[in-house]
Amino acid sequence: MKTLSLKVLTAMPSTVRFTSPSNIALVKYWGKFGRQFPMNPSISMTLNNCYTDCAITYSEVSENNAGVNSFEFEGEQNEKFKARIEKFLSSIKDKMPMLNSLSLDIKTSNSFPHSAGIASSASAMSALCMCLAAIAENTGTKYASELSRLASGSACRSVFPHYAIWGESKDFDSTNYFAVPYADFNESFSSVHDAICIVSSAEKEVSSSVGHDLMNDHPFIEARIDQANDNLKKILAAMKIGDWKSFGLILENEALTLHALMMTSNPSFILLKGRSLEIIEAIRKFRNDTDLPIYFTIDAGPNIHILYPDSIKLEAVMFLEEKIKPLCENGKIIHDTIGLGPVKK
Ligand code: DP6
Repeated sequence: MKTLSLKVLTAMPSTVRFTSPSNIALVKYWGKFGRQFPMNPSISMTLNNCYTDCAITYSEVSENNAGVNSFEFEGEQNEKFKARIEKFLSSIKDKMPMLNSLSLDIKTSNSFPHSAGIASSASAMSALCMCLAAIAENTGTKYASELSRLASGSACRSVFPHYAIWGESKDFDSTNYFAVPYADFNESFSSVHDAICIVSSAEKEVSSSVGHDLMNDHPFIEARIDQANDNLKKILAAMKIGDWKSFGLILENEALTLHALMMTSNPSFILLKGRSLEIIEAIRKFRNDTDLPIYFTIDAGPNIHILYPDSIKLEAVMFLEEKIKPLCENGKIIHDTIGLGPVKK
């Protein structure tokens, strides 16, 4: 096998281990085509505290014995995740031919509670793919990002520090194949907080695959693609000069657009809860009263992410404790920040 490294040929099992974080989209990826290509460009902020820890022990075996030998999640064998990963690995053999002769024992765990209502596919898949890229001795982030994209679209953005852009766009030199880092931002965007307010920790009502499919014959698809391109251009301009007000208005517009698209698709979904709306109202009221730069975004669920710069941390934390915490399930808020991406262990 000419693609195998000497390390693998010794037949002694080796282990690679990475942590990789989740990310929060600022301009949302919603709708896909072909082999996991996005219908519109997106940009996300890489998180710090919400990450997956993945270790893969691998050894060379005959083709008949290749595949996932075991998959452990949070210390327990998990057949459901094992089947999902096996399917994914079979689908990327053209990108990583050595998978035809490797046996893998995979152990993963999350830094955040499983039922916290946080999308874990971005961290889980990017951590797995960072390990795979290391096994393939292809340490360029481009390859890890491409593998991650094939596992879960949003995961391709998690392999970079700070911010990452994925998907062809009219104004930025990005591609559908992998994400690219975005570093041309003002100092005030280098230490951003994300308070993840848990409205419900229940399983997602709509899988993201079902959600993306709804865009295939959505009546607003053309307008959405134009809007996402426009929002990306505007948000980058705002981040470059430290214009938090323009940034925040686009952030909220993207979150509400995502939910509006779900509400107006066929079938339609309403994922926001009463408490989600109460939190949104409280943020807007606080902003009006204080003129402080504090804004929300939302993924495909009821939980609200509240973003603010480090310069207003004191006021923001007081507001969160007083006004937002009582609106959250069991008072749960996960305090996260912008992060630096995967770490080799
Ligand atoms: C609303 O990346 O979870 O979070 O590619 O099917 O795995 P798949 O979807 P996924 O979709 C994420 C959608 C989103 C917006 C975003 O992260 O950009």
